[in-house]
Amino acid sequence: MFHFLVQTHSGMWGIMVLLFILGFAFYRQRGWKIGLRLAYLVMIVTGVWMLALKGFPWLFILKGILALILIGIMEMTLARRKRKEPTFFMWLLIIVILIVILLIGYGVF
Ligand code: HEM
Repeated sequence: MFHFLVQTHSGMWGIMVLLFILGFAFYRQRGWKIGLRLAYLVMIVTGVWMLALKGFPWLFILKGILALILIGIMEMTLARRKRKEPTFFMWLLIIVILIVILLIGYGVF
């Protein structure tokens, strides 16, 4: 079961990032955002499940919190894009937080 969760989780994060970029580029098309939100759901469900199976290690609790912050900033960035407001600093935040999440996820930290 854990192996299946890790495979799904690590296979989905790339799709999530791709759907975010497409949702940003084609911000008038709702389909990308619907797909993106489904990807969030898969990441959160598989993440929390793995967290429970691992006995809630603090580093992955921190990673989960960072991931929820990342999702929030991604949603704010799409909303700013729709309102044609600047998003440069949001992108910087997304890239930095995503790198930290990946470093924890792949066991570099
Ligand atoms: C939404 C952004 C997220 C990204 C980009 C992300 C990325 C990753 C990556 C790349 C891995 C390594 C997978 C592998 O070893 O092949 C991983 C593992 C993990 N993630 Fe996430 N994750 C996210 C959200 C979450 C959330 C919300 C939680 C929990 C609340 C979570 C909990 C975990 C756990 C427990 C592992 C460890 C699996 C292991 O021991 O191998 N992740 N994550």
